[in-house]
Amino acid sequence: MKETPRIVVMAGSSRRDALSRKLAAACVAPLQAAGAEARLIELADYPAPLYNGDLEAEFGLPPCIVELQRTLYDSDGLLVVNPEYNGSITPLLKNTLDWCSRPNAADRTRSGGAVYAGRAAAVLGTSAGALGGMRVLFHVRDILGYLGMQVIPQQLAIAHADRAIGDDGSLCDAAQRTALDRLSAALVDTARRLRG
Ligand SMILES: Cc1cc2nc3c(=O)[nH]c(=O)nc-3n(C[C@H](O)[C@H](O)[C@H](O)COP(=O)(O)O)c2cc1C
Repeated sequence: MKETPRIVVMAGSSRRDALSRKLAAACVAPLQAAGAEARLIELADYPAPLYNGDLEAEFGLPPCIVELQRTLYDSDGLLVVNPEYNGSITPLLKNTLDWCSRPNAADRTRSGGAVYAGRAAAVLGTSAGALGGMRVLFHVRDILGYLGMQVIPQQLAIAHADRAIGDDGSLCDAAQRTALDRLSAALVDTARRLRG
């Protein structure tokens, strides 16, 4: 059994004041409390072009994607905080997931489907609106499952997200904090079992 699973935490937006980035940051402490090593990453640090097979054929994988593939490969699980764009996931997140799913001829072990397969995942939604990004959760769950991740049933949609995070960086609402603690514990437990 893996005592301290490594969980990568990311938000689907790179916007400076992104609500999803604030919520992603708020997930780090609950994951650590649940026994994980949580690594918060910024998708802005992996600025891949919009995927195009011609680009890949000519130039191969962008170096930032190779780096992210290795980070994902070295992890035991993934927590993704999603803004909702027209009921679905952001193009930034989809593009990043797609690039990372591509094999790298120079490093077949740590690229392609192997960076996702057999790892645990959890999905959260966030929106300034009343539904908290509920609709995106079904899409992102489906995509991560297709990539071979085991997405835990616990999920969280944080409505009115512009008011949900306090000055201390954690969720203001006690019930939401409890739900995030439970989700974090379930993710860490699943990562331990899958990667033991
Ligand atoms: C193209 C686009 C589509 C959007 N669609 C939705 C939506 O379906 N549901 C929703 O709650 N908010 C929607 N919004 C509003 C976003 O939730 C809001 O801009 C949010 O703050 C973006 O996430 P971020 O703060 O993490 O960058 C949309 C915004 C954009 C730019």
